[in-house]
Amino acid sequence: MNVTKDIRYIGVNDHEIDLFEGMYIVPEGMAYNSYVILDEKVAVMDTADRHFVQEWMGNLDAALEGRKPDYLIVQHMEPDHSSGIAAFMDAYPEAKVVATAKAFTMMKNFTGTDYSARGIVAKEGDRLELGSHVLTFVTAPMVHWPEVMFTYDSTDKVLFSADAFGKFGALDAEDEEGWACEARRYYFGIVGKYGAQVQAVLKKAAALDIQIICPLHGPVITEDLPYYFDLYDTWSAYRAETKGVVIAYTSVYGNTKKAVEILADKLRAKGCDVVEVTDLARDDIAEAVEDAFRHDRLVLATTTYNNDMFPFMNHFIDDLVERGFKNRTVGLIENGSWAPAAAKRMKAKMEGLKDITWLDTTVTIVSSLTEENIAQLDQMADELMK
Ligand code: FEO
Repeated sequence: MNVTKDIRYIGVNDHEIDLFEGMYIVPEGMAYNSYVILDEKVAVMDTADRHFVQEWMGNLDAALEGRKPDYLIVQHMEPDHSSGIAAFMDAYPEAKVVATAKAFTMMKNFTGTDYSARGIVAKEGDRLELGSHVLTFVTAPMVHWPEVMFTYDSTDKVLFSADAFGKFGALDAEDEEGWACEARRYYFGIVGKYGAQVQAVLKKAAALDIQIICPLHGPVITEDLPYYFDLYDTWSAYRAETKGVVIAYTSVYGNTKKAVEILADKLRAKGCDVVEVTDLARDDIAEAVEDAFRHDRLVLATTTYNNDMFPFMNHFIDDLVERGFKNRTVGLIENGSWAPAAAKRMKAKMEGLKDITWLDTTVTIVSSLTEENIAQLDQMADELMK
């Protein structure tokens, strides 16, 4: 695949993977992208996951058409992109590796080899001339690791964006839901904690004339770039993207679930177009996290368990707190058969979060729903619709 006249795609698709980064389900697989820039000098952008090094080397060899690469540019040292470094450096002993100083340290730690003698340390704003293509390095610490850099090709106006603007899913998989769905789950799962750092690099990117984005996962982006930049700005600024209510719950015997269903029905009846209900024990928690950040209101409903909340709710709130959840309206529903404590525990767990508006109404169910509970759910729905 040609990205431009001189830039070739040499990445691979992974349909064998069960959990990306050991955690995220990827029913449509995953792509590990890599590119070659063919100019007077030849530069290779990143490598691939360890299971695909041979395939990637084959793709590289085919793209080179008998030429030898001069540079391997390592933008990110996470092993889904860096596992081919040793094979590359062995196969092309004349090539130099270009990376940040932090990346060279990680390279030694991962491979056991110090490549700095064959390396060029890239710093913010450094340029690398390949002939007609001039590359400029843009450091992007914590998007998603500290050593990350982007690379801007001012000739073809291409931004090589490392993990940013990536998504789950192999490139040969169906993508009926559109880019944003799996890109959002990927963003909030993997980079969500680092909104400030994403904002910083977006500011740097705004000064560049970018017509193509080449990320390390997901498709090459060639059209409507403001749409993608706007979404990244919204996500990294922790602004809600959509007006909607997410109700995330756990339920052991169905009584808390019943309360959630009644609340969802009341919200819809009162005109709320977007009500997302998620069972944290059975649904994908990464999807629930994505939904919580996507919409502007959240209701947490759970059983009291060991004088705390049910474990899946604990996990979910941990995910929100770790990612700096803020700037949202939150309501609580608890259940407890002898000493309801979940609402207090949930609120305590979230107390350090910024700009959270708590609903006045908290619903406490003691085993099963009462008429009073149903009236409280109505009141909660009214508050959520204000
Ligand atoms: Fe795709 Fe942070 O590695």
